[in-house]
Amino acid sequence: MRILTIVGARPQFIKAAVVSRAIAEHNRQKKNPFIHEEIVHTGQHYDVRMSQIFFDELGLPPPVVNLGVGSGTHGQMTARMLEKLERLMEANRPDWVLVYGDTNSTLAGALAAAKLHIPIAHVEAGLRSFNRRMPEEINRVVTDHLAQMHFCPTQSAVENLAREGITKGVFHVGDVMYDAALVFAPIARQKSRILETLQLRPKQYYLATIHRAENTDQPDRLAGIWEGLRRLAKTCPVVVPLHPRTRHALQKLGLWESADASGNTQALRLAAGPSGNGIRVIEPVGFLDMIRLEEAAALILTDSGGVQKEAYFHQVPCVTLRDETEWVETVQTGWNRLAGSDPERIQQAVLETQPGHPGIWPYGDGTAAEKIVRILLREQKSI
Ligand code: UD1
Ligand code: UDP
Repeated sequence: MRILTIVGARPQFIKAAVVSRAIAEHNRQKKNPFIHEEIVHTGQHYDVRMSQIFFDELGLPPPVVNLGVGSGTHGQMTARMLEKLERLMEANRPDWVLVYGDTNSTLAGALAAAKLHIPIAHVEAGLRSFNRRMPEEINRVVTDHLAQMHFCPTQSAVENLAREGITKGVFHVGDVMYDAALVFAPIARQKSRILETLQLRPKQYYLATIHRAENTDQPDRLAGIWEGLRRLAKTCPVVVPLHPRTRHALQKLGLWESADASGNTQALRLAAGPSGNGIRVIEPVGFLDMIRLEEAAALILTDSGGVQKEAYFHQVPCVTLRDETEWVETVQTGWNRLAGSDPERIQQAVLETQPGHPGIWPYGDGTAAEKIVRILLREQKSI
């Protein structure tokens, strides 16, 4: 069986890493048929710390090709990807095109395959924020309507698809991100030195990430979030591994100067800095360092989908810097609070956080990747 995996953005390298591991395990056990997977990197993310570091750390096989599309408007990026992917898929003709999540790389992979009548399998299908102003929501909806196989992380994702009339080829397999947390957390505890490097004491700092377009592209929202973090940082260090998109937006807003208590307004440095007051901005980190930072944080503030869930996996209270979330279970179980971008609300949400309810686990049993591989093998015959 031949699988063409399309990735391009940071969270996709992490998700694909666990599915590739499951494929390798299938082949290692000499089960039939042999699965030949080729990975295509669209080049959507390209900085070493947004891309290569994940291939190096997570054992994801190197891509057979990097399409090098780089950054641009949605139309530019998607069009560049489509043109290159179409050529590649026509030559390759895989049994499955495997796409992940909700980025422009997901959309382009699905669209190129659909027009060539190549079956599409969508990992992390059925997620909805019900906010069509988010580019991710458009990417998800279109991809789900083009895909033949839908691998849902949660029961609510299955129900979202049913509401849109998608009931065939829908499988509730659990969340591959939970698989990734289980596989890589023990490795991170062993290998990561990030807490020592940054001189952070466990449970005595907050971790924050911001990168969503809805926040970075709206100056009032970004300024509100930054002010919220600045106020929190007066009493507890706030560590921010900064997405390049947010760095550019902060620079544009002139907020960069308040980022670092040491007065260093130039390049970001991943180095031991003053661990007192102030927002501690660092470069984006690899997944192992990120897991360590998450596990040891007193609290996480984020607009990331993946980070909200990882807070839950590691049982760290979370404040989400958005007005809605696709990962509703994290809120329902009491671990996550929606705070939007208002500094007062953010501070209030931090004060109100407490550990959620024990005993509810909506994200599967850590074998989502294995199930995906099994189902792809089984369903290939019926396509
Ligand atoms: C993309 C996804 C988003 C996902 C995120 C994961 C879309 C529409 N959005 O958002 O759903 O949550 O990835 O991180 O696909 N940049 C760099 N270096 C890089 C990558 C990006 O400098 O290696 C900068 C560029 O200025 C670029 C900007 O970040 O214009 C945004 O990058 P882009 O890939 O368009 O969107 P993300 O915000 O990363
Ligand atoms: N992540 C990382 N280093 C960072 C920030 C995030 O390894 O500096 C990981 C994080 O642990 C999670 C994934 O990247 O697994 C989430 O990606 P991101 O927040 O970029 O996108 P989203 O999940 O919102 O689509």
